[in-house]
Amino acid sequence: MAYVTGLRCSRCGRRYEPGDNPLMCVEGDLGRLDIEYDYDLAAESFSRESLRERPWGGVWRYWELMPVDRRFDVGLGEGGTPLIHAGRLAEELGVKTLHLKDETGNPTHSFKDRAMAVGVAKAREMNVRTAVIASSGNAAAALSAYSAKAGIESVALVPEDASMGKIAQLLLYGARVMRVRQTEEGVDPTVKLMLEAHRRLGWYPCPSFGPFNPYQVEGPKTMLYEILEQLGWRVPDFILVPTGSGCLLTGLWKACRDMRRLGLIDDYPGLVAVQPEGNQPLVKAIREGKSFGEIRPTPYPKSVASGLLDPFPWDGDAAMEGVRETGGMGVAVSDDEIMWAVKSMASREGVFAEPSGAAGLAGLRKLLDEGFISRSDEAVVLVTGSGLKEPEKVAGLFEKPPVIEPEISQLQSHLSSTKRPL
Ligand SMILES: Cc1ncc(COP(=O)(O)O)c(C=O)c1O
Ligand SMILES: [Zn+2]
Repeated sequence: MAYVTGLRCSRCGRRYEPGDNPLMCVEGDLGRLDIEYDYDLAAESFSRESLRERPWGGVWRYWELMPVDRRFDVGLGEGGTPLIHAGRLAEELGVKTLHLKDETGNPTHSFKDRAMAVGVAKAREMNVRTAVIASSGNAAAALSAYSAKAGIESVALVPEDASMGKIAQLLLYGARVMRVRQTEEGVDPTVKLMLEAHRRLGWYPCPSFGPFNPYQVEGPKTMLYEILEQLGWRVPDFILVPTGSGCLLTGLWKACRDMRRLGLIDDYPGLVAVQPEGNQPLVKAIREGKSFGEIRPTPYPKSVASGLLDPFPWDGDAAMEGVRETGGMGVAVSDDEIMWAVKSMASREGVFAEPSGAAGLAGLRKLLDEGFISRSDEAVVLVTGSGLKEPEKVAGLFEKPPVIEPEISQLQSHLSSTKRPL
């Protein structure tokens, strides 16, 4: 049994009953329906000791704090990812302790599997036939895969210029894909059409932003639960979070409060929002002390980090609160800094991330330089997506290796005359 007591709109405060399966606030105010749990009941079975007895991995390891009954688990086996002690990178950066939470091994190779595991489980509970998403990226891949496994039809509304490489993954999982033309400036046509399809056709909206589906937000909370368990319940000083819509940050902030509410931690890790310089509405608002209401969409978002290009941070309200309340920060990084992170992570630690997935490391380096994070702090960098998603982003970084005869002398002379690639 799920332990949900109700849902409450983050904008107007209107309350909803869990049995009504609400998706959006009826006031049309784009508030997220924050899910409320019976923490006293959860505390009866959710403890450090009881967790130790449960099998590692999967979002339903933490079933008391999930909004869907675990019998609707789709069963692709997300989560349970390693926390890698990054000693070589730590040495390069001159920091004492650094860990990488490596999400690249998830079923579709990004952390979005955690969100869609819950979003699609809810769709199964609600007997949904068709799920719709506005995204061309990792969230759409995750939704398509989980829907395929659950026997639910998925429709992905993607921007007109989405790359065929990304679209192919969705098509392979059986999604219907439509490229949607931009006709109005400042309005995301994929989000607009997704809402229309929900209202007119009854499709289940499952994008990875809270205001259009409150259930999937709960999946990424499990990243924080896992990190705490992996650190033996020590709270790290900072967690660096690659950020687009702010949904992941919102989930992590909720997870922090869950754990404190259950008395499992006394302190919060500082949550750090990392955005690319070419799309940093949330980071700018944090740094300039602006409110969420003052944020305007980025007119032309541009970055090598294709997963961090949401022009508007739909979950920015809770994300900003999380950053503020935990003593975190926002930081913007350039494409060069992001590519440095991709290269360093792979060549020092053996972890191959896509640019969006490596941005957290670039953010850490910048905040160390700025002095906001100190070299004696313990930091966790979230590595949110695999480099195998976008191999073309790294192919151009290197020269073609030399062709040599199968002779040891040639091998030795080339090794001494050529540099290491990194
Ligand atoms: C690899 C990767 N990292 C981070 C994010 C950012 O997540 P959010 O949009 O929840 O802020 C995304 C979003 O698509 C992503 O694909
Ligand atoms: Zn509302």
